[in-house]
Amino acid sequence: MDLHLTDALATEDERDALDSLLGPPATRWEGGARASGGEAHVAHGGHAARARRHLLLPALHALRDRVGWLSPGAVNYLAQRLTVPPADIYGVASFYALFDLEATPPTVVHLCDDIACTTRGASELIAACERAHGPEGRPCAGGGATWKRSPCLGLCELAPAALIQRAGAGREHATMAPADAGAVADALAGRPVEPRAARALPQQGETSLRLLARVGVADPSSLEDYRRHGGYRALARALEIGPEGVIHEVVAARLVGRGGAAFPTDVKWRAVAGAAARPRYVVCNADESEPGTFKDRVLMEDDPFAVVEALTIAGFAVGADQGWIYIRGEYPEAHQRLAGAIARARQAGLLGRDVLGRAGFHFDVELRRGAGAYICGEETALFNSIEGYRGEPRNKPPFPVSEGLFGKPTAINNVETLANVLLVLAEGGEAFASVGTEGSRGPKLLCVSGCVERPGLYEVAFGVTLRALLERAGGVRGGRPLRAALIGGASGSFVTAEQLDMPLTLEGTRAHGASLGSGVVLVFDDRVDLEAIVLRIARFFRDESCGQCVPCRVGTVRQEESLRRLAAGRADRGAETVLLAELDRAMRDASICGLGQTAAIAVRSAVDRLGLFSGARP
Ligand SMILES: Cc1cc2nc3c(=O)[nH]c(=O)nc-3n(C[C@H](O)[C@H](O)[C@H](O)COP(=O)(O)O)c2cc1C
Ligand code: SF4
Ligand code: FES
Repeated sequence: MDLHLTDALATEDERDALDSLLGPPATRWEGGARASGGEAHVAHGGHAARARRHLLLPALHALRDRVGWLSPGAVNYLAQRLTVPPADIYGVASFYALFDLEATPPTVVHLCDDIACTTRGASELIAACERAHGPEGRPCAGGGATWKRSPCLGLCELAPAALIQRAGAGREHATMAPADAGAVADALAGRPVEPRAARALPQQGETSLRLLARVGVADPSSLEDYRRHGGYRALARALEIGPEGVIHEVVAARLVGRGGAAFPTDVKWRAVAGAAARPRYVVCNADESEPGTFKDRVLMEDDPFAVVEALTIAGFAVGADQGWIYIRGEYPEAHQRLAGAIARARQAGLLGRDVLGRAGFHFDVELRRGAGAYICGEETALFNSIEGYRGEPRNKPPFPVSEGLFGKPTAINNVETLANVLLVLAEGGEAFASVGTEGSRGPKLLCVSGCVERPGLYEVAFGVTLRALLERAGGVRGGRPLRAALIGGASGSFVTAEQLDMPLTLEGTRAHGASLGSGVVLVFDDRVDLEAIVLRIARFFRDESCGQCVPCRVGTVRQEESLRRLAAGRADRGAETVLLAELDRAMRDASICGLGQTAAIAVRSAVDRLGLFSGARP
């Protein structure tokens, strides 16, 4: 393959960052020294080189973590190491918000300006930051740092939130929440910052908790503690009843996915288990980038062994010997906890060959970090991202169960779905299904944030109403009137105070023209500028569209433009409403994936249900 390298050379540091990950180059073809005269006549490439392509994303992270950005020399060297043309590497690197292709200071502080943070002081924090440190993206703190705005960082219950990316050997990324101007100044100056508040779990200590029973109770770094609190009993039972028995329990549980699409888990698992092609894979979708969602983060940070155990059970059920966890790049603490859990499980024989002593059951897990792209939560975009390509969704069919990761049968599940699998096995499928409503079974995690007294992660039995949930969360902050709630995140819809008796179930939200999605309940009082919130949602979709298909690429831009005209009072509301409806229809009908299909839902509900952008500010 002709790589078209430029003259730019990697620095020693950059070469070392890549060699530490990939091992030293074996030949001149891979950027090393020529070993013998014959080497020049032997082509390097083909299958062996393609098999290493999936190392591209970890390699980009290795460079970013070491030097802060991806220089032309580093890209050249990486191109040689993986036999991928530099243009292709640029294509991938430029897809992700957390990678920079221009020289960037070693410290970058990302300040969330998304929905929940806006209701809790983010705009004031950003304004203070601008005054103290200059405009977004410019070097500050003597050139050693810069700050940027960010979409939701998945810390909404602790808003306002910040992510600190630090480059240099041995330096680690961290999050900060709640963040304040002083802490941001410390982070920019390279001074130590206080460890982040762990989580907000208002129900902590309640004996009814099942999914969250170990959170804040068991030491997330200790396998022994995990086992003391019931860990690995579900896997033992799975091994006892066999793969068919596991799927049978999941059928009885009537478990549906918690990642947003509510697809029956057993249908997916059975299809993969029955697929002829080998190998098969199981994937845990830990990308969690839907604004307002933070449930998976809490599970991964505070119960990481549960994720590993549940993925092992999934692998056993479908006959996979390799599992992957794809976690969003903005979750450094969860990444660290999961990496620790995987390593400890491996040491204890709970991953690897003959898992838990079961002869012939080999299963291991690979952890992959995303790099700031909401679309990579879409299952096929996620596969492309792992494989080292741009995170663009694929056309479906073929579906992942027949052609998923690396083109092989794949069962992909959300973190919370997998956490439920442990309960299904521990309690039995029927007992699991006895909780909830006719159409929605089992427990559900709800991410409550915004203008409430006690934001946090709540575990409820399916069926609780929005009113009851708000009461549990202490009601609207300061006793103010409820203006609206956004159910399901940016791809969900606004509901009003008249809909407080809506049951938070799949069918209950549907009946009210909403969707539970990933379990977001974002609350707004009468003082929030909801038009600004809707504009933020429109900007989010414009930014996050992968650009692959026209209805979404163009539609998300046109939608935002129309809303801006309306907000500025420069438009004929009737004509703009017709335009917004047409854009919605085009995106819904003709987009390749769920991003484009849902990009107009919140906007439409804001215009139709809340009467926003009418010129009369509430
Ligand atoms: C734009 C978009 C983003 C998504 N993001 C996530 C995500 O962050 N986490 C997740 O589990 N599922 C996400 N999904 C849904 C996945 O495609 C897939 O349905 C899910 O991982 C399946 O797991 P489940 O059946 O356990 O819910 C997203 C879908 C779309 C269209
Ligand atoms: S709908 Fe949007 S995000 Fe999805 S493939 Fe098309 S352009 Fe990409
Ligand atoms: S962390 Fe800021 S909106 Fe979620």
